[in-house]
Amino acid sequence: MTSLWFLLDMIMALRMFYKSLTQVMKKGKKYVQTSVDFKRRNILQHIKNFDSLHGFKKLSCRGFCVDRKCELSQLYIRQTTPDDHDDLVSLRKHVYDGKDYIPSSYHDLLKCNTGVAGYIDNKMVGFIFASIIDDGTTVLLQSGRVRIGYEGLGIVSQLKRYYFRNLPAGVNKSVINTSSPEALRHAQRRGSPVVFQRNAITFRTSKTDINAWFQTIRPNFPTLESVDIHYFKRICRSRESKTILFPEDRIVLKRVPYRLLTSNTSHVFSCNPKMFASKCETEKRPEIPSMMSASTNLSCEVGMVMYLDLYGDISDVENVTDHVGKQLSYCLDTYEGDILFLYITCAAQFSVEDVARVLSVFPLELVGNEVTYCVEETIE
Ligand SMILES: CC(C)(COP(=O)(O)OP(=O)(O)OC[C@H]1O[C@@H](n2cnc3c(N)ncnc32)[C@H](O)[C@@H]1OP(=O)(O)O)[C@@H](O)C(=O)NCCC(=O)NCCS
Repeated sequence: MTSLWFLLDMIMALRMFYKSLTQVMKKGKKYVQTSVDFKRRNILQHIKNFDSLHGFKKLSCRGFCVDRKCELSQLYIRQTTPDDHDDLVSLRKHVYDGKDYIPSSYHDLLKCNTGVAGYIDNKMVGFIFASIIDDGTTVLLQSGRVRIGYEGLGIVSQLKRYYFRNLPAGVNKSVINTSSPEALRHAQRRGSPVVFQRNAITFRTSKTDINAWFQTIRPNFPTLESVDIHYFKRICRSRESKTILFPEDRIVLKRVPYRLLTSNTSHVFSCNPKMFASKCETEKRPEIPSMMSASTNLSCEVGMVMYLDLYGDISDVENVTDHVGKQLSYCLDTYEGDILFLYITCAAQFSVEDVARVLSVFPLELVGNEVTYCVEETIE
């Protein structure tokens, strides 16, 4: 009996010892945790100060980068749905000087692309659109956005990696179209080829001015015919029309490059572009227009942007006037505001001066120009 009491006493003593030991350990852990949190908060504050001082550019200080890599390890990635529109729009303001197409076309783009977003602490910090084009060989990447304060961490690279994880067999490269010198330098460092470049010129005008121009000129554009899906497929199949209209072997629509393949038709028409071709005058080659144009109109922060891509020979003033006039008349029919920007792209052989010259009949103010590059990259 005595030994039983002794055994019980021992058990009670051991229990109390274990309880106090775990309490001490918890306190210690809490202390360590608190001091780590405190240090981390301090470092993050430093980063904020550093970033605001340096415009988020210089992130070379090692201590900061290590901590930021920690943040990257907390990155949670998932596909987006139509409900993510507002989060995506709040990710980044004033992109392309207020001419960002994402707010008005996210839902349309989601029909043909996969949205991939990254989150840290339940906050969206990065986004890309990706899709498979060109007969299932190529990943098209577009609309990269990273929240200010999270740039330079490689978030876009992580989102790309996430999308590349389960690609179908046959996909072996990715393609982007960019006008960013940093993106170009980055691609060149990696040895990724620029497959072609195009010139892009931005003009500013207004509905009032264009309407006044229409009143005086009263054009009726008899030389143009509409390009529908069937017409487009015919162009894809014609070797000669590719040579005349698409020297890049791609049709670039609203900054996006697609090979001339009938399998790309649904992608090409997903944002409802208005496409026209100059009627062919020669009997010999009735299927080949000398020029084509495609436009997509998107409302944005600064008004309306008309993405107008011109293909073929744009040296004939009359021809170009018909295309641009017809595209403008469609744009103004549905636009209720006044300020209008035209983002016009053409083959690299035509200079900014060439474009300004052929468009001089219109009341347009040239406000900018850039070169856009199509870069291909092999997927390892
Ligand atoms: C462009 C932007 C997304 C870059 O952010 P970032 O944090 O520097 O990019 P990350 O370090 O996460 O990713 C780098 C990757 O993105 C790609 N990238 C960077 N800038 C790019 C650009 N302007 N266009 C296309 N890809 C770009 C790089 O090729 C690189 O790819 P990798 O996986 O081969 O390394 C960011 O500055 C941003 O949101 N800018 C405003 C929106 C914008 O101009 N987007 C242009 C792309 S459509």
